[in-house]
Formats: sequence, structure tokens, C-alpha cells
Amino acid sequence: MKILLVGSGGREHALALGLQADPACTELHCAPGNPGTAQIATNHSLDITNNEAVLSLAKSLSVDLVVVGPEVPLVNGVADVLRAAGIATFGPSKAAAQLEGSKDFAKGVMRDAGVPTARSFTCQTQPEIEHALDSFGSPYVVKDDGLAAGKGVVVTDDRQVALEHAISCKRVVIEEFLNGPEISLFGISDGRNVLPMEPAQDFKRAYDFDKGPNTGGMGAYSPLPWAPDDIVDETFEKVLAPMIAEMAARGTPFVGLLYAGLALTDHGIRVIEFNARFGDPETQVLIPRLKTPLATLLYKAATDSLDDAVLEWRDDSAVTVVLAAPGYPDAPEVNGAITNIPKIAGTKIFHAGTSQSGENLLSTGGRVITVTGIGSDLTQARDLAYRAISQIELSGSFYRSDIALNASVAEKGN
Ligand code: AMP
Ligand code: GLY
Repeated sequence: MKILLVGSGGREHALALGLQADPACTELHCAPGNPGTAQIATNHSLDITNNEAVLSLAKSLSVDLVVVGPEVPLVNGVADVLRAAGIATFGPSKAAAQLEGSKDFAKGVMRDAGVPTARSFTCQTQPEIEHALDSFGSPYVVKDDGLAAGKGVVVTDDRQVALEHAISCKRVVIEEFLNGPEISLFGISDGRNVLPMEPAQDFKRAYDFDKGPNTGGMGAYSPLPWAPDDIVDETFEKVLAPMIAEMAARGTPFVGLLYAGLALTDHGIRVIEFNARFGDPETQVLIPRLKTPLATLLYKAATDSLDDAVLEWRDDSAVTVVLAAPGYPDAPEVNGAITNIPKIAGTKIFHAGTSQSGENLLSTGGRVITVTGIGSDLTQARDLAYRAISQIELSGSFYRSDIALNASVAEKGN
């Protein structure tokens, strides 16, 4: 099977590793890819926001499957264009990707499907906004309705800050504050069936102990030793299966990866958000733990044939830590020289925002490299990830030192 993987981040490097490890994958192409994917696949330059350019590359390579990593091309309808040309595609249609593209749309589907989530108002005028803020009270949760590259959500005790953010959005969802630990749980769907993956936890704030601004994610780990044993079954029954059924009933089946961001509250699980694609950096811990051959799995999802598929997992733990550029997330500095990337058994280096310039590796984005450690437990996985990341040199770069720390302490107590 020839595969084209669209995207260039740490998530795509991890997916490329998984796809390439499946013997069914005979040729792997990445577009645009990064210096990490270049080591295991053929990279092609591509404007991924240009649907026709994606189609033309897929056709010229005669691929059997296209896997779309990021949300922007999905919300832009690239999967529709590829499918219309008869190319099997892992990634939802434009209509189904609205689960990520519009928070108000996602709320409507959840309501119709009976999926538990925060109560909310969708507002367009200042009186509506003020009414919504005052009916929920502080802490205020204000979400830009549309895609905002991780910058659309403000959670604050300051009513003025909440109001200003809400007014700056064209359409805004204001919702009740959910208290409780957050987890990410993904379902792989062919539009009818959905296979839940193992849960992971992401660390969204920039600095240790959840200080600093929100980011795309500074680290992740899996499994979650502290989570209830039935969390996967419960999420399947209450969230993933009803969402997939509702999208199918609406005539817009969701084919691809449905990312459920959940809060485990005292009143049970609640959906915080959906994404229409694999999480980054959660993918960098899930793919190394997944035993099921990835290319075959995603091809089955793309061709409506997951009926008999099962997911199998390695009995190990993975922790990933993100090396961020100075200034991330507000104004990341780019073009810094990255040196001293170590090769340590039990670790994997995923390129996220790098480029090759002759012999030199340079930073090109806020999240530069993700380092995953894989061990028999979280403590060992953490040690490996931190041993490797501490050796990488990039002037002014930083990483969180507390990824999976509490979970590894809890694990020892068990
Ligand atoms: P999102 O971009 O939707 O993932 O939101 C970013 C972050 O805002 C989430 O990871 C949560 O930490 C926080 N958040 C979003 N919605 C809520 C909510 N209803 N209650 C509490 N925190 C929230
Ligand atoms: N890790 C959060 C995301 O992928 O949206």
C-alpha cells in the first residue's frame, strides 16, 4: 500500500513512524513532512491548504490512502476532494470536521446525541454575552466559535477579560466551568464503527505546575494509572458511539479520528471539546504503545471496514516532553541551531518545528522537538524522556519538568 501523509508536525512524525512500521505500507510519502519524516519517508513540498494541490500530489504518486494530520485542511474540505476522486482518505469531510471547526455546531450535535457536556450559550451580541457570563458566574469560560489555533479559549475569574475576549469573537460560546482532571480519549471511526484508543493526558499550560499561557500542548503520557478502570468503556458508550451514530444519522458520517477532550467531574464525564484529528502531543505517546498495525487500521477506517478490527496495546508506559522555542507560545523565535540530539535506547525523537539547512538543523516553530520515553512504567518512561531532552541544545529553549510527575508518584503508591 502506498500512503501519503499530510502535515509536518510532531504528530505527523509519530504517525509516519507507525505507518512505516506496518509491513502493509510499501511506500510512505509525507507532505510537506519535516527532517524527521525525511529519515523514514519521502518528503514532498506542498501547500496543504490548497485542496487541488493535495489531490494532484496524491494522484501523481498513485497512493492507495491519504492520511490527513492537521485540522485546517480537513475543515477546508480536502477529504471531500480526495474522496470525490476515488482516493481512500483517513480524515473527516468538511461537514463532519465542523465538530472541530465550530464549537456551536459541536454543542448542537452533542445535544441531539445526548452526550454530556458543559451547559452553554452561543452569543453574537453584547447583551447576550453579558447575560451568559452572569448566568454562569466566575470562573468564566469563553470560546471563540471558530478555529483559533489553540488561542480561542479564555478561562478567567476576571469578568472584564472574559467580556473583552467574547466581544472580540464574531460568534462565541460561553459555558459553565467544569471542575476535574482532563483527559484526551480518541476514537478511530469508519463512519459506523468506532474503536476507542487508550486515554492520554496532555499538559496545555506553558510552564511547570500549570502556570503560564495556554499552548498547543507541552507534553503527554499514557496510560493513566489514576483514571477509573471503566473510563474507556464509559467514553465509548456515552460519547464516542453516540457522536458517530448522530453524525451518520445526519448524513455526514465522521470518518477519521474523533478526539474527545474530557473533564472527569464529580458528576461524571463531560466533553470539553472535540477535535477532528489526532492530538499533538498525545499521538507521540499513543502510537509507540499501539501494537495494531497502523496503516492497515487507518485504511480499514477509510474504506468503511472496521467491523472486525480490534486495537491492541503494549503493556508499557510512554511520556513525551516538548522542547519549545524561546518566546513560545506568544512570539516564538525561529532559526535557532539545534544540536546534540541524542540516541538513547527506549527514547524516540519526533521533529515538530525543524528544518534542514545543509548540515544544520534549525528551529521553525514554537514546538520544536518532542521526546518520548518508553518504559515499563511511567517513572522509567519519564526518566528516559528527560535524560534525552536535557541533552538537546537550542539557545533559549525550554521544557516543562513536571510532565507525568504526579501520575508517576501515584503509580509508585499503588
Ligand atoms: P480547548 O481549546 O477547548 O481545548 O480549551 C483549552 C483549555 O481550556 C482546556 O484544555 C481546558 O483546560 C480549558 N477549558 C475549556 N473549557 C472548559 C470548561 N468548560 N471548564 C473548565 N475549563 C475549560
Ligand atoms: N493536544 C491538544 C490538541 O492536539 O489539540
